[in-house]
Order: sequence, then C-alpha cells, then structure tokens
Amino acid sequence: MTEQTKLGGTLTLPGTSTHLRRMGYGAMQLSGPGIWGPPRDVDAAIAVLREAVAFGVNHIDTSDYYGPQVTNQIIKKALHPYPAGLVIVTKVGARRGADKSWLPALSREELIDGIHGNLRNLGRDALDVVNLRVGGMMAPAEGSIEEPLRVLVELKLQGLIRHIGLSNVTPRQLQEAQRITEIVCIQNFYNVANRGDDAFIDALAPQGIAYVPFFPLGGFTPLQSSVLDRVAASLQASPMQVALAWLLHHSPNILLIPGTSSLNHLRDNLTAAALELPADLIAELNAIAENARAAAQSAH
Ligand SMILES: NC(=O)c1ccc[n+]([C@@H]2O[C@H](COP(=O)([O-])OP(=O)(O)OC[C@H]3O[C@@H](n4cnc5c(N)ncnc54)[C@H](OP(=O)(O)O)[C@@H]3O)[C@@H](O)[C@H]2O)c1
Repeated sequence: MTEQTKLGGTLTLPGTSTHLRRMGYGAMQLSGPGIWGPPRDVDAAIAVLREAVAFGVNHIDTSDYYGPQVTNQIIKKALHPYPAGLVIVTKVGARRGADKSWLPALSREELIDGIHGNLRNLGRDALDVVNLRVGGMMAPAEGSIEEPLRVLVELKLQGLIRHIGLSNVTPRQLQEAQRITEIVCIQNFYNVANRGDDAFIDALAPQGIAYVPFFPLGGFTPLQSSVLDRVAASLQASPMQVALAWLLHHSPNILLIPGTSSLNHLRDNLTAAALELPADLIAELNAIAENARAAAQSAH
C-alpha cells in the first residue's frame, strides 16, 4: 500500500494546482468539550495534528471561531512553519457568543475581521481556501449570499484568500455564487445516515467541485447503526472506518475531514481509506439512510 492509496488518492480543486489527499482531518474537536477552549491537554491535541501530517494528511479543516481562536492557535503551535503542500481550509460567517452559542457573523466588518483573525492565529500571509459559512446550524436556508460573497471576492483580489468555497448551502446558492466567482468546494452536513445531498453531490462531480461532508461520523452524536456494526464485524473493521470508507466509495469528488481528539481514533480513521467495500455490503449500507427516513416518517 503506497501513501497515496492509503489516504484514498488525491483530488485537485477545480481551476487550481491545489492537490488534496481525499482523507483529511477536521480540527474542530481539538479546542475541547463544547468546542470551547482551551482543551485539558494541549500537548495531546498537538500530537494528533503532528501524527495526521506525518501519516500524509495534507488537508486540515478549521475555523477561527473554534475555541474561539484556540484551534487555530494549536494548529500553528503544532505545525508552523507549515510543510510544503499542507492546505489549511478555514471558514468565516459565524462567531461564538459569550454564552458559547453559535451566531451568524456575515456583515462586511465581521467577515474582514474573521479573515484577519484566521491569518493572525494560523500565522499565514494568505489563506489557502476559505469557506463562506451561511444558513442555520445544521441545514442551509435559501436566500441570496451575494453580499457576503462579494466581501470574500474583494479579499481574494487583495491576495488574502487563494480560493473560495461555500458551507451549508443549497444548489441554488451555489449557482448564484458561480455567477460571481469560482467555487472550489462545498462543505455540507452529510454522512451514510443523512443523505439529503445525494443529488447535489452528483451535480458537483462533473464540475470537479469537492464535496466535503461535515459530521461525516455523525458529529456531536456519533453514528450508531446495527447495519454499520454488522458490516464492520464482517470486515474486521470499526463502524467508523466503514462509515468513512462508504463516503470515499460514494463519489470521487468527496473529501473527508473526520474530527477526533484521540490518537487511536485518528489512526482508525486514516487507515479507513484502505478498506475495500464489496457491492453486497454497499447495498446494505445504502439501506441505513432509507431506514432512518422511514423511522422519521413513522414517528410523525
Ligand atoms: N461547516 C460547518 O458548518 C461545520 C460544522 C461542523 C463541523 N465542521 C467540520 O467538520 C469536521 C468534522 O466534524 P466533527 O469532528 O464535528 O464530526 P465527526 O467527524 O462526524 O465526528 C467527530 C466525533 O466522532 C468521534 N470519533 C472520531 N473518530 C472516531 C473513531 N474512529 N471511533 C469512534 N469515535 C470517533 C469523535 O470523538 P473523539 O474526539 O473521542 O475521537 C467526535 O465525537 C470538524 O472538525 C470541522 O472542521 C464544519
């Protein structure tokens, strides 16, 4: 197994020379419980980041509002000066309230502050990729995103941002955005049990736009499914490895950013890319979302 195959191969962001290994790492959990820092053990968080990069990960997802500011400062402490080829994808559009709530931050001033906060706390002169995060907590909400997007385009022209992505958006919002600027990735809620974006992913694939599911393992309530357990046992793998392997198999434009604060879970996740899923087991896994939909309907 080469380093390339163990991380699921590489995807090049459209219109760029940015090559991302398909298995990346989501850094949100590093700031501690409730994503409110500092974490109990900063050295353990640093060890997770260094191990991910040593394993070959070259795509780390973060935001300055994780912690707040704490996750980015840990990334800088762990990895700066950054190795060549490491791509740090961040996002703006939200902020944390003093009561730890998650609030929108989409005004011009908040977006500009957000970009400068990311630059400062990551220790970079320019940000590789910035996702404009809009919508509600878990799901997008229709409506124009032109105003905040134009602010990011302005900052891109100033050289502070290299590439722009969108998070928590609908296909219509992507279309609006593409009339304004090039969009290289979409980051929405999606996993083996939550497949509301199936058609969206299919539409993005021919354009080469990366689809990066957030909560690939279920997020704050990690996935639990007897089907996942059964398939995992038959492959001598863990249920989380199967959930990640299913995502990699599902579409070639999917990139993964599973989050963990544990070295053991990190190793489990990174080796999932090498897992082969035979067709009969994929069919079983496809039933998870159908069962979840049926259960939700019968509950109403
Ligand atoms: N755009 C957005 O709005 C948005 C929203 C949420 C998240 N994100 C991004 O998406 C990334 C991933 O999301 P996430 O970390 O919240 O959710 P996730 O990757 O779906 O799951 C993380 C949870 O699963 C556990 N876990 C991870 N690997 C495991 C394993 N092998 N076995 C058992 N449990 C495991 C983690 O606990 P341990 O720490 O104990 O391993 C944690 O509780 C984040 O880091 C963030 O960068 C973006």
